[in-house]
Amino acid sequence: MTILNPNYLYINNEFQENIAVAFDTEIQAIDTLENLEKKYPDARLEITKENSVLYPGFINTHVHLEFSANKTTLQYGEFMPWLDSVIENREELISACNNEVMMNACNEMLHSGVTTFGAISSFGTELEVCTQTPQKVIFFNELIGSNATTADMLYGDFLERLSESKNCVKHGIIPAIAIHSPYAVHPILLQCAVTVAKKENLPLSAHFLESPAEREWLEKEQGGFLSFFQKFFSTSRSVTSIEEFMNAFNQTPAHFTHAVQATREELTFLNNNGHSIAHCPRSNRLLGCGRLAIETLVEENMPFTTATDGLSSNNTLSILDELRAGIMLHHLVPLEDLASLLIKSITSNPAEIFSLNSGKIEIGKEADFALIYLPDRPSSLKSIALQTILHTKKVNGLWIEGEKIL
Ligand code: BEZ
Ligand code: FE2
Repeated sequence: MTILNPNYLYINNEFQENIAVAFDTEIQAIDTLENLEKKYPDARLEITKENSVLYPGFINTHVHLEFSANKTTLQYGEFMPWLDSVIENREELISACNNEVMMNACNEMLHSGVTTFGAISSFGTELEVCTQTPQKVIFFNELIGSNATTADMLYGDFLERLSESKNCVKHGIIPAIAIHSPYAVHPILLQCAVTVAKKENLPLSAHFLESPAEREWLEKEQGGFLSFFQKFFSTSRSVTSIEEFMNAFNQTPAHFTHAVQATREELTFLNNNGHSIAHCPRSNRLLGCGRLAIETLVEENMPFTTATDGLSSNNTLSILDELRAGIMLHHLVPLEDLASLLIKSITSNPAEIFSLNSGKIEIGKEADFALIYLPDRPSSLKSIALQTILHTKKVNGLWIEGEKIL
């Protein structure tokens, strides 16, 4: 048994003083240090420094490890030129992305306090690294393919990758399904995958309404995607509409990534059907997609997570860098409330969305913790979330299922 006695403990989405936590692989008790030492006389007390704050381990719901080799190659600023640059440099970037590069990416997340992440996998090449990294990984096997003639082959490949990830559960892998996007997945393929997710109760996610070009294509079959589909797929027709795509997820809760270009009505519809949103502020900014109106999500009481996306659309995989970007971007939400929402979006929200037994400091939860030291005393309990986000470059301690990793 180990006891941690920070100055501040993040519990029930607020900060409390004079509370310690006792844990082995799971959290066993939360009480004053005095009571815990009486209850567990043989427990080891971890020494913490002044102004320490203990959080549940952070959860980054959406990352593409396969593109971790990108630094300066891809074209930022607008979605279609970015997509063109991905296609042009795809082979080179993927072959440069070896296990060492991907492990460094996992390490960068680890140092930012991430104890669980959601890896969107196109080819399955990051499965080995995901089994080796200390973090738990929701392994989202991605389904792609808008062309009906190649659908069978692509679906077979997807099922094989899904099956391989199921063999790695003992190594911390949670098998899951990702739908690439409305424009790149044929509705029949989509239906098959949603049926599997529902039947096997697998986490499900999908990129959705990321760019203005995507909306224009799905609504009007015009804009940047028209020449893209003419060039690469010899078609001028979209395989689906926004409504048809959303309806395909009826009764199967999914985590929709981006949704920057979704209307309030579409967000309300998704919320009413039990869905949630992954918000990637820096990726959206770098690809010229706009700003997700998280104030609308707050008004609609719609759950959202904050995620880094991959290094193909970001400069770091630090979840703390991502929250700092969120703080600067969302000027309409009162500052300390926003900080609190952002911390929730990488702890209890993702845990609830994906039914993880973590993301909260609560008896019976897995003992995943991120410990940080503020540089000075916070002026109020309410300011701690904001001050953590502003000042923390790296966490000062990290535990996964009770094991001290950093
Ligand atoms: C496809 O495989 O159908 C596809 C991939 C990327 C963008 C659009 C379509
Ligand atoms: Fe993504």
